[in-house]
Amino acid sequence: MKKCLIFITFLFLPYLSLFPQEEPFVINHGPYLQYLTTNEVTIAWTTTTEGISWVEFYEEDGSNFYEKERPKIFAASDGLKTIGRIHKVTLTDLKPSTKYVYRIYSKEVKNRNYRNPVFGKTIATSPRQLQYFTTDKLNRDHTSCVVISDMHEDASKIGRLLEDVNWDETDFIVSDGDFLSDFDQENDLFVGLDTCVDIFAKEKPLYIVRGNHETRGSIANELKNYFHFPQNNYYYTFTSGSTLFIVLDGGEDKPDSDIEYSGLVDFDPYRTREVKWLQDLIESEKFKNADHIIVFNHIPPFFPNRSAWHGDMEVREKFVPILNEAGIDLMICGHTHRYAFLDKKSGENNFPIIVMNNNCRMDLTIDSSGIKATTIDINKKVLSQLTFE
Ligand SMILES: [Fe+2]
Repeated sequence: MKKCLIFITFLFLPYLSLFPQEEPFVINHGPYLQYLTTNEVTIAWTTTTEGISWVEFYEEDGSNFYEKERPKIFAASDGLKTIGRIHKVTLTDLKPSTKYVYRIYSKEVKNRNYRNPVFGKTIATSPRQLQYFTTDKLNRDHTSCVVISDMHEDASKIGRLLEDVNWDETDFIVSDGDFLSDFDQENDLFVGLDTCVDIFAKEKPLYIVRGNHETRGSIANELKNYFHFPQNNYYYTFTSGSTLFIVLDGGEDKPDSDIEYSGLVDFDPYRTREVKWLQDLIESEKFKNADHIIVFNHIPPFFPNRSAWHGDMEVREKFVPILNEAGIDLMICGHTHRYAFLDKKSGENNFPIIVMNNNCRMDLTIDSSGIKATTIDINKKVLSQLTFE
């Protein structure tokens, strides 16, 4: 009998390969929050195969998803529902300082035929494991955030650095560049991002600063699809409380023609266009009205006992003169994997610069008394505490 079964299995084996198993339609990454403000948030996730997606949500009132129909906001652009594997839904017109409950949904699209689309199953996060976010308070005078840099896809390091963060007191997290090493496949991103989702990103937003390593890899030009960048650029601003955060993109660290880039990069003109954007920004009301201005920029313009590379020089010559003139309170960098504090130096950097170690996190608090930056290493030891008034 056993021999007979083996014979039958072998007989049908060639035919089984003609009917490949369909990949099950599941949510495989996320949800993770992006750009959570006083009245807006973007919720992102991915599924194994293509679908359309939406978010249902309500103000936290002790009720549940089964009490009544909830508003549905679809992932759509230009009036068309987005069909894809990467899903981003932006909720707008929210109330400030309000706790919301949300649930994500995706409906599989097996065939995109416009007249006769073929849908598969609908999936969602469990209504029994509710997810929450709380919109920012209007006119808040206190901001707290956590900064990490140069994690290079090291999920266990991210976990260790963030394990004793006081999340109730944390408004958002910033990755100050090189979260990735090379972006050749989706998993390169999610090896670290899944850990962020497990720890905080379902409820607190993650801001991405593009480091030079995020520009590398065969799908590096797809990075923007996975995140919501407020001005749809890798250089952008966001406001928290009375602080304006400016995120700069320093691009690659060597000359564009370097053999390492295989003739595929063009950062010098990109940084020049960024200069124009920065010049317009410092003339804006949001710049002039901010109580504090903090700049994130992956490649430091200066670093002690390190001879400059082309990327350093570009940041130094293109961005720093504008920031020197405009006046900012602090620049936070990474890239070197070594800590340094560079105090204001007239004629070079008219603002202090902190360069982060890749084995530390920084707890940053800003209020009317000034900025406090505490650097904590992976063993929870406080390495430095700096205050800027
Ligand atoms: Fe770097």
